[in-house]
Amino acid sequence: MSEQQQFDVVVIGAGPAGYHAAIRAAQLGLKTACIDAALGKDGKPALGGTCLRVGCIPSKALLDSSRQFWNMGHIFDQHGISFDKPAIDVKKMVARKDGIVKQFTGGIAALFKANKITAFHGYGQLQPGNVVSVKQHDGSTVELKGTNVILAAGSDSIELPFAKFGEHIIDNVGALDLEKVPKRLGVIGAGVIGLELGSVWKRLGAEVTILEGLPNFLAAADAEVAKVAAREFKKQGLDIKLGCKCTATEVKKDGVHISYTDDKGAAQELVVDKLLVAVGRRAATKGLLADGTGVQLNERGQIVVDEHCHTGVDGVWAVGDCVRGPMLAHKGFEEGIAVAELIAGLPGHVNFDTIPWVIYTEPEIAWVGKTEEQLKAEGIPYKAGSFPFAAVGRAVAMAEPAGFVKVLAHAETDTILGMHLVGVNVSELVHEGVLAMEFKGSADDLARICHAHPSLSEAVHDAAMAVHKRAIHKAN
Ligand code: FAD
Ligand code: NAI
Repeated sequence: MSEQQQFDVVVIGAGPAGYHAAIRAAQLGLKTACIDAALGKDGKPALGGTCLRVGCIPSKALLDSSRQFWNMGHIFDQHGISFDKPAIDVKKMVARKDGIVKQFTGGIAALFKANKITAFHGYGQLQPGNVVSVKQHDGSTVELKGTNVILAAGSDSIELPFAKFGEHIIDNVGALDLEKVPKRLGVIGAGVIGLELGSVWKRLGAEVTILEGLPNFLAAADAEVAKVAAREFKKQGLDIKLGCKCTATEVKKDGVHISYTDDKGAAQELVVDKLLVAVGRRAATKGLLADGTGVQLNERGQIVVDEHCHTGVDGVWAVGDCVRGPMLAHKGFEEGIAVAELIAGLPGHVNFDTIPWVIYTEPEIAWVGKTEEQLKAEGIPYKAGSFPFAAVGRAVAMAEPAGFVKVLAHAETDTILGMHLVGVNVSELVHEGVLAMEFKGSADDLARICHAHPSLSEAVHDAAMAVHKRAIHKAN
């Protein structure tokens, strides 16, 4: 064991939460180290966490490739464009995705270098007294002492006891790397990963069946948004079965056999070539903490922190997927930056009420703030205004008329409480709601802001006007 190395900040994990914390700490003049265990497909260290390696970025690369392919077969004809039957080279598509991953993981390494962050490649464990021992990939161990330690270990896929991951039963990692389009793809879980990666392979020609445990589709989203999304997914041929209880799987010669009971309690069997299990993720805290650190884990294995991401142990913080709150890259970004600023004596802060959600399906789904169902349950008086993309010139010109924007505002103060969107490019439009809510804006503020014509954001404008029954382009 070499001599202990001293840092102002030691970060465990170089995913979105960890690399933001490390870079911001270094920008603020703190001597910073960041440890990450992950290796890329080439066996070399790859920074950027789940998000860059096997999450946000590779999934969006495949979503975009498959969307182009789908549009060729289903949308181009409306524009008068015709061609011979489209074909997909899956290996080339996946290689494009891998290239993007390499570019971005390499980009983090370059940013670390530029910010003079010392990167350690190996497995880090917090010891008592803010010491981190690192078992490096070359077999050596180093010990780092941090005045502050930031735990940013992220999350791993949840494995079901009756569906062990392997060649045929896969998680996001496998589903991003298939060598050919499976004829039949089964998915357990109609959550974000199930819908996004189910869409990828459906668009490329797989028969996709999604088995969801809950009786309601997309229970976290606004009910009207979920209804429109369910209708559009059905049109695309995604077979989503709700209220299913999966009980067993067996890999046989003809595929993976999944036993489940349907929403009426009847026993069923589904046979597929590949089964994607996407039933949520859990904090990757196993082995992260040595005995005696004082850092607490809750019953879900998440590190217990206060609203400032402090663990209650002097100088020990935790951010991102390994703590409470939504498992979203941008939530981790903000927490990482806030903690680095708090360490440097600045007023770091995350507003958990304005974290946007986006599901990158077709149509896209996005929201910020409370749903109508939440407002009703909490007894908050509200007014709603919505506007369909079918009445937005730009959306129709793009042959993308599905969906709507809904603005929810307090019935007395008019303050915007939520915005819910389903439709084309709503991953971008939702930020109007985020911005308005961050500045405590009202529906009337949004209604009085000039929006370019023709643009998709006119749907937001008209929805805000509809809150006061004065939308111009629809009957109120
Ligand atoms: P992670 O990204 O998981 O990074 C943690 C890092 O720490 C990993 O590199 C890990 O190897 C390393 N590590 C863990 N323990 C140790 C240790 N003891 N020693 C050393 N290193 C360690 N979110 C979005 O906001 N938008 C999206 O579009 C989106 N798409 C997604 C698609 C998929 C398929 C998946 C799986 C996730 C997606 N997410 C998305 C979620 C997003 O990836 C996570 O919320 C985000 O990566 C969490 O960041 P993090 O830094 O907390 O953890
Ligand atoms: P999820 O929590 O989004 O969805 C899991 C789904 O599986 C739920 O609908 C749940 O009811 C269902 N489920 C759970 N156990 C089940 C069982 N035994 N049988 C049948 N259904 C069951 O989790 P998912 O899709 O794995 O994604 C994990 C997280 O990753 C997301 O919650 C999100 O935080 C993040 N993510 C974000 C993305 C984005 O922002 N666009 C994209 C992909 C992932």
